[in-house]
Amino acid sequence: MSDKVIKIAPSILAADFGRLAEQVVEAQDAGADLIHIDIMDGRFVPNITMGPLVVEAVAKVAAIPLDVHLMIVEPEQFVPQFADSGADSISVHVEACRHLHRVLGQIAEAGCRAGVALNPHTPAAAIGEVAEMVRIINVMTVNPGFGGQQFISSTLTKIRSLRRLIDQLGADIEIEVDGGINSHTIGAAISAGASVTIAGAGVFQHTDGIAAGISELRRAAAKELNGED
Ligand code: DX5
Ligand code: ZN
Repeated sequence: MSDKVIKIAPSILAADFGRLAEQVVEAQDAGADLIHIDIMDGRFVPNITMGPLVVEAVAKVAAIPLDVHLMIVEPEQFVPQFADSGADSISVHVEACRHLHRVLGQIAEAGCRAGVALNPHTPAAAIGEVAEMVRIINVMTVNPGFGGQQFISSTLTKIRSLRRLIDQLGADIEIEVDGGINSHTIGAAISAGASVTIAGAGVFQHTDGIAAGISELRRAAAKELNGED
């Protein structure tokens, strides 16, 4: 039996916003490790979602950490606000930052764990020079902007490279996989080296409910870790 711990981070992008608080509590009670919050600005990605007010509302009901994923241009303008709203970790996109080093410093200074997100086309090497400032690498396994898309399996090679790099450095960095994670894709992501699995539709739109979605993911993850067929 493997002692590797896999975290499950439901993404509220797929939640019912009319019952958001209730659904967050349901996910938490069902064993979610983190709540993932997708912030989109209609500029970096072709969609608009939520802002600090929603993070604040989730923070009021969640006892587990809030993992905020900024898919916005010029994230440095909003880092303090998201930190004040209750974010525990804040990830910014390499592709959206002219001064990535400075932004990561700003996130840490605001008291949050700093993360870097990589679009599917962005190579693992993009984090090389800032690895020591980073606690999270979010590997986008879909093109960011929408929930419910299909997992892009060519990202597995990048996850493997990042896993090697982190192990070589002996660094305390978590690899998140974000997009298209379900009971069919979670195993490959874990075997490539991911330790945090983000899932929107797979949790909040599971036909048997949120708890069923989470336990299905846990079962598939355990199967991968324990080497079952
Ligand atoms: C996509 C977001 C993801 C998304 C995942 O831009 O970053 O977090 O919510 O949703 P699913 O699991 O439905 O692909
Ligand atoms: Zn995300």
